[in-house]
This record gives sequence, structure tokens and C-alpha cells, in this order.
Amino acid sequence: MTEQSVAAVREQPPADGGARAVEEVLVLDFGGQYSQLIARRIRECGVFAELLPANTSVEKIRERKPKGLVLSGGPASVYEPGAPKFPTQLLDLEIPMLGICYGMQAMVLALGGRVESAETGEFGRTDLVLRDGGGNLLGGLPEEQSCWMSHRDAVFEAPEGFTALASSPSSPVAALELPDRGLYGIQFHPEVVHTPYGTEILTRFLRDVAGCTEQWSPQSVIAEQVEKVKAQVGDGRVICGLSGGVDSSVAALLVHKAVGDKLTCVFVDHGLMRLNEAEQVIEAFSQFGIPLVHVDAEERFLEKLAGKDDPEEKRKIIGAEFIRVFEEEAAKLDDVSYLVQGTLYSDVIESGGSDHAATIKSHHNVGGLPEDLEFELVEPLRMLFKDEVRAVGAELGLPERMVWRQPFPGPGLGIRIVGGEVTKERLDVLRAADAILQEEIRAAELYRQLWQSFCVLPVVRSVGVQGDGRTYAYPIVIRAVTSDDAMTADWARLPYDLLERVSNRIINEIRDVNRVALDISSKPPATIEWE
Ligand code: XMP
Repeated sequence: MTEQSVAAVREQPPADGGARAVEEVLVLDFGGQYSQLIARRIRECGVFAELLPANTSVEKIRERKPKGLVLSGGPASVYEPGAPKFPTQLLDLEIPMLGICYGMQAMVLALGGRVESAETGEFGRTDLVLRDGGGNLLGGLPEEQSCWMSHRDAVFEAPEGFTALASSPSSPVAALELPDRGLYGIQFHPEVVHTPYGTEILTRFLRDVAGCTEQWSPQSVIAEQVEKVKAQVGDGRVICGLSGGVDSSVAALLVHKAVGDKLTCVFVDHGLMRLNEAEQVIEAFSQFGIPLVHVDAEERFLEKLAGKDDPEEKRKIIGAEFIRVFEEEAAKLDDVSYLVQGTLYSDVIESGGSDHAATIKSHHNVGGLPEDLEFELVEPLRMLFKDEVRAVGAELGLPERMVWRQPFPGPGLGIRIVGGEVTKERLDVLRAADAILQEEIRAAELYRQLWQSFCVLPVVRSVGVQGDGRTYAYPIVIRAVTSDDAMTADWARLPYDLLERVSNRIINEIRDVNRVALDISSKPPATIEWE
């Protein structure tokens, strides 16, 4: 990888620490842009995988007793001063190893092979030709196939004893192996979808080389986390703030499974939710019989927001009031010493990353839970990726609508009324418009394909004509984006007939709206939300 600097090699705190009950594979992260994706793909193959920094001590790795090691790609050239090296002591562990891209080059260099800068790099889809039947790792796959590459340096000669398994136009040795010692390397990226046999190759390494049997599943996560929460909490009382989102809901369900009614959930309804959303949360949790305190705090929030139109001020007011209400409710419950948080594995990794990542997180946590409450944290999702959280939620019986809910900002509709005061009347207009948009997007079966889809209410009025009279009413802006992680996003190309239906319905059904516009900006330079 050349996109990132060596400095991007991150120090990551352990997600969970210690050896696990299920088999695991460790991914040593040399800072590549796909490192997280490698771990996700391995888990999709049914094997637990965790990311550790490339410089993790060999002792620590030994303690974890992994079934296999995967060395990720990275941004550096192996010859750059300070480039991370392959720790040769790893070989003493006699654990099967798969080097990917930089990971393979570092291994090859340390074992006496030849790595050099190729005349032309290979970035993107690349043709791969097998050599000598493809060996253990690639044997039986098509002689010619395509794969995804991202490199300039290449392996020109395999270390002694290794067999070269494939070549590409600029990589004389694009894959190699030394089966007797369990060492394997590939120049291309099996973790990206553009490598059609990538999953098959990963599976071969995991199953045939490392001897993993499939053990990682939503059921195993539930069993493991329930035990962990029981061990942590014992007889203690636990509180959980619900937002209606999938993370806090699944975290609450897991903890409830572990400690039953020692858990109390608090749902602070700030009145800035979407149509019927509060009711859905209450209904879902009452079906599970989970003690739930529903705080209807709409009036309090609206009073605090009255007359305010500065976006940052609105966010701060909502965040501060949220904490106040939560604290008041927590104080009413006796002996609570634990607080559930829906921290995800990507948060754990990011918080060990750059300051930039940390700033983004705290900004987005406005409306989240207080940081200085004197509770011990219970974080049952700390080792899960988002898609795994959804799978666990579905397994636990969370309604489909909540499992697949698109992200929704903590300050809710409060940051979607822009350029003016947040009032009940405007919230109702926005809620009605948003409900129509969601209904039509769901009916068109597009909801899950979109990262987010929502309406924005700019506080301006423009002229229209309806019937025989002129109107002077609000516009509604439709914002729908596709994205993988919200760091970048593209505007969704919604079908014209869908847009037409949404526009007609919004204008016909909502008296205070006479115009519908579509936001066609990507992020960057725009953001997803309007403020
Ligand atoms: P932007 O607008 O910065 O949003 O492109 C990126 C993602 O973050 C969400 N978002 C927030 N989430 N509190 C939150 O909990 C906030 O204040 C907030 N602001 C933005 C946004 O919905 C998108 O998914």
C-alpha cells in the first residue's frame, strides 16, 4: 500500500484481552488500508480473528495460542528506513502464517528471498497465472484468474526451499509456500471482493493449513459474552441507555440474557426521534420483559432549544440535557455500579488510532452517555464489527426494523432543522416528511442498500401555487447516501419514479411544505448531515 504513511501503523488496545474459548487467528497489522477487512473476512469464514499491531511481542502472541497468523499489507516499502520488519522470532512459535502483500514481502526479505521495486506497480485488477499447478494454496483453482493488487515492490525470487505458486505481469512471484513449515505468502489481496477466489484461498489457509474448524458464529458470540458479563457483573445492578439504535439494543439484550432483571434500561426520549420510533423501542423491550424506564423529556428539550439556531449550540444543548436526564434517572436506581455501552470493535481500533479519529468519535458521541459517571463499563460488543452486531441482534430476536436501522445521530432531528429554531411544529413537519421517505424507500426495497436516507428542513419559506392560491411554505430536502463507514459518502442515485412519488406525497400530504429538493453532494466536500 502506498496511500498511507508508516506512521499509520497503529498501536491498538486489545479488544478483549486474553486467550479465548474459541479458536482464533491473529492478524498482525502492518498498517494496510484493508487490515480490518482481513479480520472481518476471516470471521466470515467462521473463525475468530483479532487485529494486533505488527510489533506485538512474540511472548504475547504465544500466550494467545492462535491457530494461525496473518501478516497484513502496509504502506511502506520494505527498504524504507524504519519500515516494520518481519519478526523472525515468530518462526519459533511454529504457527502457520500467511503473509499478504507487504506481509509477504517482509517475510520473504527476512528469509533471504529477493524483493525489489518493480518497474511498474500494480494497482487494481490484475491477471494472475498459476505456476507448477499452484501448490497447496492455489492448486485446483483456474490457471488464469484475476486478483486485486496494490503494490510497487515485488518478490523476484522466493527464499530457499519455498515454491513459487503464481505470477502476474509485474510480480514474478505473486504467491509462494513452504508447507513443511506452514509458511505462505500472496502478493494480492484475498480480502477484497475483486479477488474472486479470495475467500476460497483464505478458507484453505484457515481450514487446511491452520486446522481451524468453524466455531465463530452469532450463537458462539452470545454464549461467550453471556458468560463474560456474568463473570464481570456477578450480583451487581446494571444500567443501559437505549437510543433505539442497533448497538445499544443488542448490548442490552446480551446483558439481559446474562443478568436478567438486574439490568434496567433507560430510554431518554428527547422528542427529536422519528415518527413512532419511541413506541417501537418501548414495544420491543417490553416484549423481552426487560425493565425499561421511558423518560418523556420532549418538553424539557424543546424549552432548552427555544430561540436557538446556532448548530453547535443546539448540539451542545441536546448533549448536555441528555446527560442531565440520564443522571437523574440513574440516581433514582439504587446500587447501580455497572453501565452498558455499545462500543464496537471498530471504535476500539479507531480510538487507538490518530487524534483525528478520536475527535471525530467524540463529536459523534454528542447525545451519547456521560463519560464521568462512576460506573464500571460493560461492553459486550467490544470485539464485534457492525455486521456481526446485526447478526447477533437477529439471533436474539430483535425486530428486523431495529436490526437494520440506518445510523441516526444522537441529537436526532434537532440537527436536521437547519438555519432556525427547533420547534414542535417544525419537528412534526420533518417527522411527517421523513416517514413518507422511509416508507417509499422501504417499499422500493432500497433501505438496506443506503447508509442513510432522511429529510432535512431548512428554515426558509418559498412561494408555491396550490389550487387557486399562492402558498408560502417550507422546502424539504431529501438526503440519501451510500457509504461504508461515513468517512466518505456518495449521493444515492434514487430512481426518478421513486423521487416523484416521494415528492408528490410530501407536498400533497403535508400542508406546510410546497417544495422538495434533492441533495446531490458527496462527502467530501459536503457532510452527510446538514449541520
Ligand atoms: P457527517 O454529517 O459528519 O456524519 O458526515 C457522519 C455520520 O455521523 C452521524 N452524525 C452524528 N452522530 N451525533 C451522532 O451520534 C452527532 O452529533 C452526529 N453528527 C453526525 C451522521 O448521521 C453520519 O452517519
